[in-house]
Amino acid sequence: MTYNRQDHYYMKAKKEGFRARSSYKLIEIQKKYDLIKANDSVLDIGCAPGSWLQFVKQRTKGKILGIDLVSIKPIGGIEFIQGDINDKEIQKKIIQKFNVVLSDIAPKTSGIRERDQYLSFQLSRESFLIAKKALKPNGNFVVKTFQSQETEELVKEIKPYFEFVKRYTPQSTRQGSKEIFIVALGFKTTSSPKLFSSKE
Ligand SMILES: C[S@@+](CC[C@H](N)C(=O)[O-])C[C@H]1O[C@@H](n2cnc3c(N)ncnc32)[C@H](O)[C@@H]1O
Repeated sequence: MTYNRQDHYYMKAKKEGFRARSSYKLIEIQKKYDLIKANDSVLDIGCAPGSWLQFVKQRTKGKILGIDLVSIKPIGGIEFIQGDINDKEIQKKIIQKFNVVLSDIAPKTSGIRERDQYLSFQLSRESFLIAKKALKPNGNFVVKTFQSQETEELVKEIKPYFEFVKRYTPQSTRQGSKEIFIVALGFKTTSSPKLFSSKE
């Protein structure tokens, strides 16, 4: 599908100093779900070129860490790691404790729909597995995925770990785009004590 690259949000981003139009998707999610609070620490997975990081920096005084395959132009006060989220060594570096984990991650698209959808599903699921290890109790998680038959599977997998889980498509998503965001609020730790023990 062809689209107008220089649309309203593209022009708005240019005017307001954001590195990409995708900033407005996060701004909409923030407005609707109050995702990031004033002192929250935030991990941003798939952060390049950095427009989500720019917005996150406006929102919080907490620690901010970004990770991407490709490098970004530095942003003052934000830590950045270049690498692949599937790499276990990279995971060791990024799995710290955060109030919020964001993932706008997307594969390099090939145009072969099923392939792109599946790669997106894998990256979104990996982001969730990282979030599960990196989130503080009651933390929030947002992940982008290309809608496919696997989306339901992913939502089902995420649901038991959060108080609230919803699919959301921001207005600023390009027309015709099949991407959606899964918004998951109130991370529940899985380490709740057992109610009964066989030894008692
Ligand atoms: C849509 S862009 C993110 C835009 C960003 N939220 C912003 O507002 O500037 C998706 C990013 O995911 C990154 N990505 C894809 N696969 C990745 C992987 N395996 N590990 C880390 N980053 C990855 C891409 O390099 C790309 O920069």
